[in-house]
Amino acid sequence: MDNSLTRILVNGLTSSPKFIPTWYNYDEVGSELEHKCVMENPGYYFAKSQMSVLRDNIESIIPSVPYELTLVDLGSGNCSKTRLVIDELLKRQHKLKFYPVDISKDFLLKSMKKLSEEYDNEVEITPIAADYVQGIEELGKVVKGPKLILWFGSIINMSYDEQVNTLKMISTVMTNRCALLFSADITQDRPTILAAYNDKEGLEQRFVQHAITRLNNEHGSQIDLKMFTFHVDFISDTSSNRMSYVRNYIQAKRDILSAIPGLGIQLHMKKGERLYFHEGTGFSCKYTLEQLENIVDKAGLCLADTVTDENQHAIFCHCNVV
Ligand SMILES: C[S@@+](CC[C@H](N)C(=O)[O-])C[C@H]1O[C@@H](n2cnc3c(N)ncnc32)[C@H](O)[C@@H]1O
Repeated sequence: MDNSLTRILVNGLTSSPKFIPTWYNYDEVGSELEHKCVMENPGYYFAKSQMSVLRDNIESIIPSVPYELTLVDLGSGNCSKTRLVIDELLKRQHKLKFYPVDISKDFLLKSMKKLSEEYDNEVEITPIAADYVQGIEELGKVVKGPKLILWFGSIINMSYDEQVNTLKMISTVMTNRCALLFSADITQDRPTILAAYNDKEGLEQRFVQHAITRLNNEHGSQIDLKMFTFHVDFISDTSSNRMSYVRNYIQAKRDILSAIPGLGIQLHMKKGERLYFHEGTGFSCKYTLEQLENIVDKAGLCLADTVTDENQHAIFCHCNVV
């Protein structure tokens, strides 16, 4: 982890309220746990909905252009959805250059080994193991020409300002021969949302709390999860310049003082104090169309088209530079 990410982690653990940024969940084990949630949590509607929107609309979702596209995938994960895009692009062009960007280095390299075996020499893969800031900077240097940029299932896990700023950053590597396709969650039904993020099997809890296990393993702390209660709630906000979100946190059962030697700090929590598993007010954000339009607009991009399914869970937003 580089210095700027370590600084964000330290800041989160010493600020008020305390938080661990969502990206810290994603090392190899965390990525596997997330994959398990997506596959085995029956209430996790978002991944299923994204897959079904893509399957039903893949031809129209990928822009029809008279030139070859290079594919970029921000927060590529295991590329389960990206494969549908790759297959469609390979119907239109013989070869494809593919740049997946992900913070979870070992998981990225493992996923790309599998992908390159599947597609042999039809897809030329250049993995970029980095966070979005460094990854987009690198893309700006090495990827020229028309691009299709995917950002699936990930904008939802950022604070409002980070969402706008990351879209702005993405726009800096786009020209009028590029398109951005990102997916977001437009579910507003409270019981459905709570069932997804607080499943009976505790898969989501295991994934989220992996941040503490990682902290203990990497930075020598001995934070005991038994000293906390785990909470999930959903905050609905449909006002035009905000969004709804899920909150995930642990709450101290008693005063806690635990050294984190690798970070040179102590975790100091009063009884009842919360530690959030996301930066900002929440994560797994839910949007109205107006809210999404405002975010895209603030980033200086143009929302050209949207596609959703009949259940109105996942929405795919096609954006161009203005
Ligand atoms: C919710 S998963 C989505 C994975 C994949 N795009 C999909 O739709 O199945 C988020 C992905 O983004 C990566 N990620 C999270 N925060 C990141 C950051 N700040 N920079 C780069 N990658 C990040 C994670 O490692 C993970 O693979």
